[in-house]
Amino acid sequence: MCGIIGYVGNKKANSILIDGLLALEYRGYDSAGIATLENNEIKILKDKGRVKNILNLDGYDKLEGTYGIAHTRWATHGKPSKENSHPHFDNSKTFAVVHNGIIENYNELRAFLTENGYTFYSQTDTEVIPNLINYYFTKLNDSSKENNEKILEAVSSATKDLKGSYAIEVISPLIPETIIVARKDSPLVIGTSNGENFVASDIPALLTYTRDFYLLDDNELAVITKDSITFYNNNLDTYNKEIKNIEWDASAAEKNGYEDYMLKEIFEQPNSIRETIGSRLKLNEPCNFDDLDISADYLKNVNKIFIVACGTAMHAGLVGKVLLEKLCKIPTEVDIASEFRYRDPIIDDKTLCIYVSQSGETADTITALKLSKAKGAKTLAISNVIGSSITREADYTIYTHAGPEIAVASTKAYTSQVVLFAVLAIHFAEILGFGNSEITINSDGGTITLDNLKKDILSLPKKLNNILENTDIIKQFADEAFKEKDVFFLGRGIDETVAREGSLKLKEISYIHSEAYASGELKHGPIALIENGINVISILTDPSLAKKSISNIQEVITRGAKTMVVTNQDLEGHEFDYVIEIPEVCPLISPILSVVPLQLLAYYISKNKGLDVDKPRNLAKSVTVE
Ligand code: AGP
Repeated sequence: MCGIIGYVGNKKANSILIDGLLALEYRGYDSAGIATLENNEIKILKDKGRVKNILNLDGYDKLEGTYGIAHTRWATHGKPSKENSHPHFDNSKTFAVVHNGIIENYNELRAFLTENGYTFYSQTDTEVIPNLINYYFTKLNDSSKENNEKILEAVSSATKDLKGSYAIEVISPLIPETIIVARKDSPLVIGTSNGENFVASDIPALLTYTRDFYLLDDNELAVITKDSITFYNNNLDTYNKEIKNIEWDASAAEKNGYEDYMLKEIFEQPNSIRETIGSRLKLNEPCNFDDLDISADYLKNVNKIFIVACGTAMHAGLVGKVLLEKLCKIPTEVDIASEFRYRDPIIDDKTLCIYVSQSGETADTITALKLSKAKGAKTLAISNVIGSSITREADYTIYTHAGPEIAVASTKAYTSQVVLFAVLAIHFAEILGFGNSEITINSDGGTITLDNLKKDILSLPKKLNNILENTDIIKQFADEAFKEKDVFFLGRGIDETVAREGSLKLKEISYIHSEAYASGELKHGPIALIENGINVISILTDPSLAKKSISNIQEVITRGAKTMVVTNQDLEGHEFDYVIEIPEVCPLISPILSVVPLQLLAYYISKNKGLDVDKPRNLAKSVTVE
């Protein structure tokens, strides 16, 4: 989704703004633009297409300004075009604004401004903002006030009129070397360093400049110069804000010799899950969550858990459900955040709502969280980004510590989320007094002790390495499969959740149509689509379901399908086209291993098709609009 960058300091702003936009490219965009000040006049360079195009626009090299604002646009209102790109001017060219979010009442505001003589050149919702600022600024005909005071008041009044979500930056020749920012329900961070300050939509974009950040909260404004940052609430009272030091270093957000971020992130998984486990889980000791102060009294009272998330994070939640139900015996439901919000879920103070979000900025997830809080539930956020919006809204937060994930297709965030669910479920089980129980893991009555489950979790990094060292068969299959138009992913039980994630990964980055089904459901309709040569990929890790799953695979082989099976079961006596063997592990956590060949398959297929793996079309890394 849209990305925002700002700079104010002593250096030329143009290249810093461009570098910032390049660092935000992964969020997904279709147009880009920058604005700086020259001879008391705002210069805007913008167009549809890539950030690098700005370098070739007339006048780029001549931009001498030492502060400015910049934007990558992911079109919502109005197609990608020069006119619709940000920054946007007001009618008098006194204010330039960039905006991330959606102004839901822009039609009303446009009508109001039109009645007051304003005209519009774009189809965007954003264009109302600079004009509203102009409107309030002009109305404040108070000569006793300085321009900076008047403009701040005008920005504040304008934002009060906006319904929807926004993170905005405003510059004006009337307040040189100053950027005003404001936010509600869209991310915005301010990075600070000696004699220069930065603004961005997310932290990784600024890590080459600073590790010290202020995280703007909803309904807050800030006035930023090179030497000062002043924070204001809605009523324009000033206050101090805590600075956050971010541990990630800049190299964590670089490719480090890998061709693509996605490949790097896939190969980082042994380490990222090690970081997720951290000191939370050790053998022969109860789990230890320093960052989670949930009491036994509270947890014993919980009679329902909702896990709410979007996309891959929701798929991690599906595994979380199995773990929480098996280990803690608390009924758990998984919901897509965009649906949960509007389905009037039955929630009360005995409900625990767990929100999973890599970015912590997903608008649907944040809105759902606010709803459940309002209904009296306690909320627990699982996020990868320190200080992200969701972590600031939730009652409790635990971090995955997977390191920055830059590729749009989520990989290491998923495995870290699943690992965290496993450790959390053990922790809850121990709090609830189930620490010494045998856990039933499948329909054959197989069981595991919590100690053995802990051993299995700790064995995961080594087993992941083993998968990552043996990628040849996956590449071979990808060399054939990249020509296909349709693929099916099948699995039973927990394997079905992985089928869904494998299918999502493939469609996101290879643009091949794929469907995921519970293996047993295939013959209730979708099998009609199976014909000669179609690829069917099955995941098979639960011994209690193996025989049934194999029968389902036979059914598609009989109808001409080409099969790939990801398994840790003994398949002797069965003929499949490709078998990807993965190490054995307790079925409850097998998704952490079985998903990896599917991530790699999607990656290799996308490469074979010559596509941009890290920045697939139409997609955004942080989906900050509902
Ligand atoms: C994953 O590959 C997707 N790009 C997407 O489904 C993502 O998981 C989803 O948008 C949720 O993002 P979040 O974890 O940052 O909330």
